[in-house]
This record gives sequence, structure tokens and C-alpha cells, in this order.
Amino acid sequence: MQLIDGKAISSEIQKELEAQVKERKAQGKKIPHLVAILVGNVGASLSYVNAKVKACEEIGFESTLIRFEESVTEETLLNKVRALNEDNNIDGFIVQLPLPKHIDELKITQAIDPLKDVDGFHPQNLGNMMLNLPGFLPATPMGILELIKRMKIETEGKNCVIIGRSNIVGMPLSVMLGRNTYPGNCTVTLAHSKTKNLAEICKNADILIAAIGRPNFVKAAMVKKGAVIIDVGTTRVEDSSRERGWRLVGDVDFENVSPICSFITPVPGGVGPMTIASLMMNTLKALELKSK
Ligand code: GUN
Repeated sequence: MQLIDGKAISSEIQKELEAQVKERKAQGKKIPHLVAILVGNVGASLSYVNAKVKACEEIGFESTLIRFEESVTEETLLNKVRALNEDNNIDGFIVQLPLPKHIDELKITQAIDPLKDVDGFHPQNLGNMMLNLPGFLPATPMGILELIKRMKIETEGKNCVIIGRSNIVGMPLSVMLGRNTYPGNCTVTLAHSKTKNLAEICKNADILIAAIGRPNFVKAAMVKKGAVIIDVGTTRVEDSSRERGWRLVGDVDFENVSPICSFITPVPGGVGPMTIASLMMNTLKALELKSK
């Protein structure tokens, strides 16, 4: 079994980006500026957003964190999105999801200028992704493809099972791995809560991607010997032995699955850091496209 070290690979990418920022600076060019909007105080969202801001600092990007109370109105949030669309100093921005129930996520996402939508969640970017046209790819699927590429994992003709059909992971990933490129050319099965015989379907997977947010859901009995395992889950579970009172647990029973697979991403330190690296790549790309 080979561990897919997302932390190390994301550090490599950050270093590559840092060098590009230095070059831009030396040439007197603009430095990428990413804005993250966070609504409310949910611990997991706060730590994701903080990690994104920290990555900007490490690479040399400018960054701004804009916070709103949980009670913020949809109109106030929309007005902020519109203002960021118009602000020439801002190259890309994200609105951290999930949003409180009284705010329509789709309405907010659709209000973002697709050229600044570095999360790749706008329907225009998702549509471009479907047709393999230029645009921004959603950060988590893009990070997973980058892991597959950098680990030189073969994908052509492989059976790929994705568990979870979310708009930000499973759905786009199913398209990206099915298309006629590398990574891609997989025969993709998109499994979900209504799928019958899930264990049997998973057992047939050469590449198994779990993105459902249910700790330790994928058991060894569901995994084919030599399969590639990508774990997108990051659920906080109570752990009184830790000072902070919790630890992150993936969707895969790592202890029992890792001995039988060929490659596996750990949690933490697998897919998570790659989501951030992809967001950073998209932000630089947003600026480069603007400067053309
Ligand atoms: N919530 C979970 N993942 C993401 C992400 O990649 N971007 C945003 N904006 N929200 C998220």
C-alpha cells in the first residue's frame, strides 16, 4: 500500500505558486487577491476559511476574510457579492458553504461573476466543465485529479465508484473522471443514498472515492484487493483525549482498508490540503486570465 500524501503534494504546489508570485512581483505585475466570505461561526467552516487565508499568506497572495453574523440577510450578502464582482483589485472570491437555511445558496452562487468564481460552483463554470471547455474547476475534484496525476495512477478503462452525488464533489468528479482525457476514461458509477447493493458495487471498483461525510462508512469487505482509495470525508468526532475535544475522521475505515488497497489518502492530510491548493491555482489563473 502506498499513502497518497496530500499534504506533501499540496506543499509542492504551494512552492510552485510562490515562485510564480515572486516572478510576477519582480516584473511589477499585480499579485493575486483572494477574498473569502464566511457567514456565522460554524467551527469546521471557520477552520477551512482560516486555512485558505493562511495558504494565501504562505504563497504571497493578498487575502481578505469578510465575516457576517449568522443572521445576515440574503440581500446584504448579495450586495457584497455584487460589490466584489465590481472591485478590480479582487481577482477571485468564495462564499464558504454551507450557508444558513434562510439564504438561498444557489442564488448567491449565481450572483458571483463566473470569471471570479474560483470555487468553480457557478452554473457557467459547471457547464464548461461538463463540455471540457476552459473555466474554473471545483476545488475538491480538481485536487483529487491532481493527486491522481502526480501519483501517476492509471485511470483508463478502470471501474471508478464514487459514493456521494453532491454538487461540489461527487457530481462534478463523475463527469471529470468519465471524460476522454487523463485522468479520466474511467467507467464511472455514481452511488448515493438510494443505491442498491452498494457493498457489491464498491467491491467492483478499481478506484473508490468516498464523499458522503459518514465516518468509517467504507469497510474492508467493500473494497477490492489492490483498489485505489480516495477519502473525501472530514467529519469531526468527539475525542476527549485531544485537547480540542475532537478529531477528524474520514469516510473510510483506514485501519482495516489500508492493508488491502494499492493507494489510499489519509484523513487528515489527503484530499483536504489539495482542495486549498486547487483554490490557490484557480486564483492565480483568474488574475492571469484578466491580464490577457
Ligand atoms: N464547503 C465545503 N467545501 C467547500 C469548498 O470547496 N468551497 C466552499 N466555498 N465551501 C465549501
